Amino acid sequence: MIKSLAKYIGQYKKQMLLAPLLVLLDVIAELSMPILMSKIVDEGIPAGDTGYIVKIGIYMILLAMGAIFFGVANMKVSSTAGQGFGANLRDALFKKVQSFSFANIDHFSTGSLVTRLTNDVNNLQNTLTMGIRLLLRAPMMLIVAMILAYRINARLSLVMAVAIPILGIAIALIMTNAKKLFTVMQTRMDALNSTIQENLIGIRVVKSFVRQDYEKKKFKKSNDALTDAAIRAASLAVTNMPVMMLVVNAATLAIIKIGGGLVINGVMMTGELISFISYIMQILVSVMMLSTIFLMLARAEASGKRIIEVLETQVDITDPVELKDGSILLQKSTSAMGISRNNSQVHPGKIEFKHVSFKYTVAGTGENVLSDINFIVNPGEIVGIVGGTATGKTSLVNLIPRLYDVTEGAVLIDDVDVRNYKLDDLRKGIGMVLQQNTLFSGTIRENLLWGNENATQEELEKVCKDAQAHSFITSFSQGYDTFLGQGGVNISGGQKQRLYIARAMLKRPKILILDDSTSAVDSATEEKIRKSFYSNFKDTTVLIIAQRISSVSRADKILVLDDGKVMGLDSHTELMKSNRIYQEINTSQQEGVLANG
Ligand SMILES: Nc1ncnc2c1ncn2[C@@H]1O[C@H](COP(=O)(O)OP(=O)(O)O)[C@@H](O)[C@H]1O
Ligand SMILES: [Mg+2]
Repeated sequence: MIKSLAKYIGQYKKQMLLAPLLVLLDVIAELSMPILMSKIVDEGIPAGDTGYIVKIGIYMILLAMGAIFFGVANMKVSSTAGQGFGANLRDALFKKVQSFSFANIDHFSTGSLVTRLTNDVNNLQNTLTMGIRLLLRAPMMLIVAMILAYRINARLSLVMAVAIPILGIAIALIMTNAKKLFTVMQTRMDALNSTIQENLIGIRVVKSFVRQDYEKKKFKKSNDALTDAAIRAASLAVTNMPVMMLVVNAATLAIIKIGGGLVINGVMMTGELISFISYIMQILVSVMMLSTIFLMLARAEASGKRIIEVLETQVDITDPVELKDGSILLQKSTSAMGISRNNSQVHPGKIEFKHVSFKYTVAGTGENVLSDINFIVNPGEIVGIVGGTATGKTSLVNLIPRLYDVTEGAVLIDDVDVRNYKLDDLRKGIGMVLQQNTLFSGTIRENLLWGNENATQEELEKVCKDAQAHSFITSFSQGYDTFLGQGGVNISGGQKQRLYIARAMLKRPKILILDDSTSAVDSATEEKIRKSFYSNFKDTTVLIIAQRISSVSRADKILVLDDGKVMGLDSHTELMKSNRIYQEINTSQQEGVLANG
């Protein structure tokens, strides 16, 4: 794990190397103090040599200042390394998440990704900052202090032989349990973040359904679960504290008792005993520091695993593998034949589904959502797609820009398998208005320019007129510079939909896909938008998923979907004559109209 994370230290290697050096100097300065102290007590005081005492005293002051300087310098250097490492890691995670396919995103919940990018990275970052200090300092102090104590009095240091194993056992006990507890804690933090996020995004729905109480309870449950896990982890660390303090104090008592006897018998000097006790304290403090570090490492390990899981996720929808002769290899297809890339240069917008079956691998039921779909849409045709809810309409069109990949069969654009296009090229050629769409904080213009960042004002106005958005945009006092809040809160659903359409049109795509994208627009406006397709998008292949048959009745062809299967592909007139499902949908909608008066 350390190996795969170490590369994110990147440009902070210098600090990583400098830090231990500073720690070493700090430790040397600190451990020299007791030696000087014993010189004052054992030599200066008995001889009554004030000059000597003052001289050693000044050395001690200088050493103390040195220790402070090295300590502060080390803190600065290791914080820089830690923060820098955290920034690099977050950056890498964010980039990775950007490359995720829809299926990858289905796998991690958004809340969990947020926790991993923030809290888990913070854990690692803090561990590194503290780690480079303590991880070196504690063992160094321990070893040097042990040697010095041993040199003062070997027999007396046997007390350590009893104390250290007891502390060791205590630490081992913490470690074995801590990692489990910290993993549980992070998972609960995921759950909490997901709850918060869902609630905040859907806060309007929550309020309109008067579900605040339910949401509060849900939040409390997540929050309590997290608190519970955090307390359990903390109390594990806390219960070990008394044990350690007990051992430390018992050891000190034993040394004073035995050492005092030695001093009285004249075997040991008072100054030696004083420095011996300082070393023993330092040894025990180091051991406790080590236990803190082990706890931190346990927590970092839990977080590190979660981060690596994201970083090492196999992105399942990627660019095709290019062969030496310029042809590209089909990625997952059963027939792994190379297809010349030249085919993809002409791009008139023909769509073909060949024996396509599809199921959702991550959150799906395991059943096919689409089974054996076969149809061809010719360049420039306008095709409607109708069918009841959950019949697979959205799933079907998502396969075209490879938001998901087919499970079996192939989707072809201009006779080339979509998996053989470079993803960017493929998606640039397709304008898509997703059923679940969104606008971003920024002006209307900024949002529209997603479709084509180089578009001129005229082009903007042209598509907005086509999408029936121009008049409402200009009715705002700021016009195209009107600022949209997060998700476009300050405009209506129908207005948003018209902006989505304009944004997709601005791409001037060869294929335009509209997934139920006029559901919030009134029929008269919808009719106008539709007219503009027929007159302005003659070269564009347009797929329109619609709830109302009236929305697509003038299309060249209508694809009727039922239960993930194609039940018809023909013109409205023909389908009305012969297609039972189409007739049923039509009848039910007529009844709806009549019932509504
Ligand atoms: N991301 C997903 N993960 C798992 N199942 C999904 C996902 N999206 C849709 N489904 C399921 O696929 C089926 C078809 O959904 P969809 O294509 O959205 O239907 P439609 O657009 O016709 O209403 C539904 O049963 C739905 O529950
Ligand atoms: Mg849908």
